[in-house]
Amino acid sequence: MSQQTVNGDAFENLLHEERHFPPTPEFAAAANVHEDVYASAAEDRVAFWAEQARKHLTWSKDFDQTLDWSDAPFAKWFVGGEVNAAYNALDRHVENGLGDRVAIYFEGEPGDTEKITYADLTERVKKAANAFESLGVRKGDRVAVYLPMIPEAVVTMLACARIGAVHSVVFGGFSAEALRSRIDDAEAKLVVTADGTYRRGKPSPLKPAVDDALAAPGHSVEHVVVVRRNGQDVDWTQGRDLHWSELMDAASGEHTAVGHESEHPLYILYTSGTTGKPKGILHTTGGYLTQTAFTHSAVFDLKPETDVYWCTADIGWVTGHSYVAYAPLVNGATQVMYEGTPDSPHQGRWWEIVEKYKVSILYTAPTAIRTMMKWGREIPGKYDLSSIRVLGSVGEPINPEAWMWYREVIGGGKAPIVDTWWQTETGAIMVAPLPGVTSTKPGSAQVPLPGIAVDVVDENGKPVPNGHGGFLVVREPWPSMLRTIWGDPERFKETYWSRFEGMYFAGDGAKKDNDGDIWLLGRVDDVMNVSGHRLSTTEIESALVSHEWVAEAAVVGATDETTGQAVVAFVILRSEVEIPEGEDPSAVLRTHVGKEIGPIAKPKHILVVPELPKTRSGKIMRRLLKDVAEGRDPGDATTLADPAVMQQIAADLRK
Ligand code: WT7
Repeated sequence: MSQQTVNGDAFENLLHEERHFPPTPEFAAAANVHEDVYASAAEDRVAFWAEQARKHLTWSKDFDQTLDWSDAPFAKWFVGGEVNAAYNALDRHVENGLGDRVAIYFEGEPGDTEKITYADLTERVKKAANAFESLGVRKGDRVAVYLPMIPEAVVTMLACARIGAVHSVVFGGFSAEALRSRIDDAEAKLVVTADGTYRRGKPSPLKPAVDDALAAPGHSVEHVVVVRRNGQDVDWTQGRDLHWSELMDAASGEHTAVGHESEHPLYILYTSGTTGKPKGILHTTGGYLTQTAFTHSAVFDLKPETDVYWCTADIGWVTGHSYVAYAPLVNGATQVMYEGTPDSPHQGRWWEIVEKYKVSILYTAPTAIRTMMKWGREIPGKYDLSSIRVLGSVGEPINPEAWMWYREVIGGGKAPIVDTWWQTETGAIMVAPLPGVTSTKPGSAQVPLPGIAVDVVDENGKPVPNGHGGFLVVREPWPSMLRTIWGDPERFKETYWSRFEGMYFAGDGAKKDNDGDIWLLGRVDDVMNVSGHRLSTTEIESALVSHEWVAEAAVVGATDETTGQAVVAFVILRSEVEIPEGEDPSAVLRTHVGKEIGPIAKPKHILVVPELPKTRSGKIMRRLLKDVAEGRDPGDATTLADPAVMQQIAADLRK
């Protein structure tokens, strides 16, 4: 069956999904939460969150007001309380006698490994906190983090949180350009990076992008701390650049964590929106930690004494923040961290890791599952995956075929699958089954979590009845919600709170089936989802037109079997430019987008067209372009200024 789309027939089949997988009685009996959790949250939502905040976190000072919504949509949670994220993730476990428990099993891409206990990790974070302070980083200062998936990434994030500095992690796959704009927007004082990482057995550089980003004067950065990872030669700016190892060797291992106000900023993470400029999503401390810790315990049924948890997300994305750097450590879990890709040195690498560490909870994305499906079930079949007891999915809708394959081939037909819907903005999981309570259903994220007021509404903001579709909204504030867009409170209100009165609009289409379960149907705005990564059509269009050959560009997300959506671009070249002999404009422009934004944004196809379909008022009709990009006959083109344009494009595409 094809991917789910907002309008396609695929949904009709989904409504008739009759497979249900109730929890086994043993799983249900031993689960961290039971059916009654919904009732207790419904009875008093705010009191429910106060209870979670006190249960999952150790507060340096208790809070006296759970929620202040008087300045809506600007929320304050756990007002009056003080809490230190790093203390909660580290010191308190050591104080409780768990210093010898493994916090991170690090598996490097070349095969090097490291076993880091809670005591080790605490000491490393204390040293990093002292080192950053010695560089003049103070509470409230911003620190840009441009690192691969290595333990230093987590150490850096927690060290920032410890001293109250605000980290802004930039995905290592983003370009120098993208890094510079994020450094500028947040006015970061410090950048933490590495010489590079490894990709498919070869060194892959990172530091050169930092050098490029900082080449032009006028930036806010005072120092660049460089982790030695792949040993490649890098340029060195004396006075600005410092070696991580030298700083840590010189730093004291003593550092006392003080509590920060519950609403103290924890981090900024940039994400694509419908307009060109990425939005700096701001998360704060108390509410964020409460909801990430609660959901990590309830949705994955985490048993910190016995489970080995592995979330495959990179720290450059929100999943790597909430469910690698924060919640697992706050909950005292043992987790696996892997630097490389799933196919290196062979397509069984993930399953080898699961077998080696006896991973019991695996959290990954549908695009990965679909890729593994293509490689064939024989590959995971060679490994012992019997340790797996809970499987998670995140980032995009998971089609029922992939869901069933995940359950049978990876979960041995017994591990419950939790399909978790959330966003960079929501900070933590919002819609998901509870593995010991919910009868799971292939392809549906199903139910709002206890204490979370998610609904599906029609154009007028009225809840839709079962069996109908509409827009996903959140009716009530939730602890881990974004607090604002960094430096742009107006844009925060406008983007999320203006479409429906008094409700947060997520930007997703959704339907309720006949049981009232929620099915996510993809974005309803100009945001694409490629392999679970958010990309903005406008941002890629801007990158294309910034090339001197391009006069106009239109970008659409076309349904793709493996990556969910793929970027397809249509460009008009400037008539006056002479393309040099032997140069392929599509290839040149793909490289250009990679340089402007990063490799993940490179269009899969770039089609040079003579004209773009426009309405008489000059608006590009992306819907028609999406039709041709997905191989459909473009439907009604009568509103076009020049209806012949679409025939021309479709004919070009067939060539
Ligand atoms: C968008 C948010 C949340 C971490 C990763 C992505 C889509 C996310 C699901 C899911 C269907 C999903 C939505 C959402 N999405 N999870 N389980 N089922 N769609 O975070 O980059 O902020 O993207 O990802 O469209 O709005 P993000």
